[in-house]
Amino acid sequence: MASVAHGMGHSVKRKEDARFIRGQGHYIDDIKLPGMLYLDIVRSPYAHAKIKAIHAEKALAIPGVLAVVTGKDLEKYGLAWMPTLMSDKQMVLPIDTVLYQSQEVAAVLATERYLAADGVAAVEVEYEPLPVVVDPKKALQPNAPVLRQDREQKNNHIWHWEVGDKAKTEKAFREAEVKVSQDIYIPRIHVASIETCGCIAQWNPVESHLTLYMTTQAPHAIRTVVALVAGHLGLAEHKIRVISPDIGGGFGGKVPVYPGYVVAVAASVLTGAPVKWIEDRMENIQADSFARDYHITAEVAAKKDGTVTALRAKTIADHGAFDAAANPSKFPAGLFSICTGSYDFKSAFAEVDGVYTNKPPGGIAYRCSFRVTEASYMIERMADILAHDLGMDPAEFRMKNFIRPEAFPYTSPLGWTYDSGNYQAALKKAMERIGYAALRKEQAEKRKRGELMGIGISSFTEIVGAGPSHTFDILGLKMFDSAEIRVHPTGKVVARFGTKSQGQGHETTYAQIIAHELGIPEDDIAVEEGDTDTAPYGLGTYASRSTPVAGAAGAMAARKIRDKARKIAAHLLEASESDLEWERGKFFVKGSPNRAKTIQEIAFAAYTNHPQGLEAGLEAVSYYDPPNLTFPFGSYICVVDLDKGTGVVKVRRFVAVDDCGNIINPMIVEGQIHGGLTMGLAPALYEEITYDDDGNIRGGSFMDYLLPTAMETPRWELDKTVTPSPHHPLGAKGVGESATVGAPAAIANAVVDALWHLGVRHIDIPITPWKVWKALRDRGVTE
Ligand code: CDP
Repeated sequence: MASVAHGMGHSVKRKEDARFIRGQGHYIDDIKLPGMLYLDIVRSPYAHAKIKAIHAEKALAIPGVLAVVTGKDLEKYGLAWMPTLMSDKQMVLPIDTVLYQSQEVAAVLATERYLAADGVAAVEVEYEPLPVVVDPKKALQPNAPVLRQDREQKNNHIWHWEVGDKAKTEKAFREAEVKVSQDIYIPRIHVASIETCGCIAQWNPVESHLTLYMTTQAPHAIRTVVALVAGHLGLAEHKIRVISPDIGGGFGGKVPVYPGYVVAVAASVLTGAPVKWIEDRMENIQADSFARDYHITAEVAAKKDGTVTALRAKTIADHGAFDAAANPSKFPAGLFSICTGSYDFKSAFAEVDGVYTNKPPGGIAYRCSFRVTEASYMIERMADILAHDLGMDPAEFRMKNFIRPEAFPYTSPLGWTYDSGNYQAALKKAMERIGYAALRKEQAEKRKRGELMGIGISSFTEIVGAGPSHTFDILGLKMFDSAEIRVHPTGKVVARFGTKSQGQGHETTYAQIIAHELGIPEDDIAVEEGDTDTAPYGLGTYASRSTPVAGAAGAMAARKIRDKARKIAAHLLEASESDLEWERGKFFVKGSPNRAKTIQEIAFAAYTNHPQGLEAGLEAVSYYDPPNLTFPFGSYICVVDLDKGTGVVKVRRFVAVDDCGNIINPMIVEGQIHGGLTMGLAPALYEEITYDDDGNIRGGSFMDYLLPTAMETPRWELDKTVTPSPHHPLGAKGVGESATVGAPAAIANAVVDALWHLGVRHIDIPITPWKVWKALRDRGVTE
């Protein structure tokens, strides 16, 4: 069957699955280079300690162990510290102090992976334990031990950030008829991607060239950072090639730079051999970047009839020992300022304080556009608390306070201009789909019988697609993105993008965008990403920015090609350009549909018979700087049944109505939402990482960090509304993280809804059986 161009809106099967489902994906650990050495890392058992001595003799005595690298070794090359993406600095290997359990202390280089591990076990480190601070509120107290002695500022406060009109908000609170306040803790969680982090550094001493194979979501930015940090050692940007092969899940955890990458590069430069470093699961979960860890006090002011007037939020953000989050530079607290959500607040004020503690660096955007999950969870919980306080149905409360469809573009009191939305339509659809009115009746009847059933709504608004570049940069690098399309003589295409898929299906959806614009079949379009030597410069894939930014670049580059194709078609058809009409895949002379040239014929002519005065070839590049972000949204409704005897929460139904504007591939979008919902269920009911007072991690392996399996995951029921983005060339918005952002509040709201009549206002996530059972026992409902 001849290939066809499907374009937007078709569930084209994923091109990349041909290799993934055959086990032929090409991941970092599949790469084996001749003469490759292996790196493994000695990690601290203490959360805070002085390093008195590191004894390497026994390790070095193991045949095959080549070197034990310490912070003092790296210091000689100016590499003991590295800059973080948040303008802080982070130890690569410590010189005299460790600041969290599992922190890198030394690295062992060996000829085999297992010999490196043996070497790690044989390294003896003498520690002198120091006082530990794990609670960020205690870390802010004047008598707290100062963790970062390297800083001039002698306390644990990192930064203060605030947004909104404080005076106006305070006035609104003074005049409020009704007020609610709630402390909300959003615990530390980990992205726990299937593939851990790792790299292979391959230094070529003859050509002074570094190839760095790496599990990174942002290969170009990494190359620039390596050049800036290690330029003095001869690592110039044109002599560095970062290759990001297939990635087994990133979710924001593969944006930061980890010490293992830096040590592997240093070891390769020093030995001249390729050096591989791959974390094991426990290292990944115990030492890599964490997400959330937000302590929020939220307040909402309203009128008696339920109309909201003002929002105030004060947050302490636990960033661990180094501020190594990967937020855009101007946003130390990410895009938390989307916290007015889907509601028409007249004033708002939010402030966040970043704090150091003896924990691994945290604050990454785990499947979320920089703290949007925290913001959305907070406002959706507050909406439910206020509705319940007022005795209003939470759906009615939301309908009353939603931003009206005709108010878009809408400017929020915290400064964002929402591009488009119709929140009423999404909630109405979700209510119809789940049978909301009948469920409320069922709940009332069950309550009479003493049964516990809850219904929770979350009507979230996301903010994705960073840039625009006037507001968004990372370390000064403006947040645009790029696409380069080359149409070859036979009409086949190689298209390269500045982003990097980690499982989102870009090879398929980007091909669909080009097919949509040029009428070239998806099968004839090869999409490549992740190689800095070939792909145009881009800021990478995270925060659902690929479709809003790089996808738009793809459309714009394709349109440039179409403009040139028109000139070539005019030449071939001996017609004027203005007499030609475009129908997907061909130009024809107006009124004479048979006088036509297909895009393939035009491509051939671009190399064999191009008009004089026009350059040969058919290629284009676009660096797309979006005029605004996109604001996808959705309404989720969850029904739970609670077991009084055990406190177990069963998600009986979950309806998710999403709106990501025009959809490129409905099947992929569904897949994104399924995965996202499961990653929203996880922190709502299961996942959390805590620390004891000595800074020992609890939840550092899959024995006690509870990922939901297929057994715990309910059947997701999906639906959609379509409200195109007015500024995106294809009307599309991002979707990758919507479900992770929206789901936790729907589940938490459902559980509290089941318990509200017993006097339960709030339970912090994860809502474990023990927390529910205790709430019931405290109220004498169960024994
Ligand atoms: O940046 P990331 O790829 O994680 O997120 P995204 O831009 O939201 O896209 C996730 C996947 O869903 C990609 O394959 C997109 O092309 C696809 N998608 C779509 O088909 N239609 C949309 N309106 C948005 C995303």
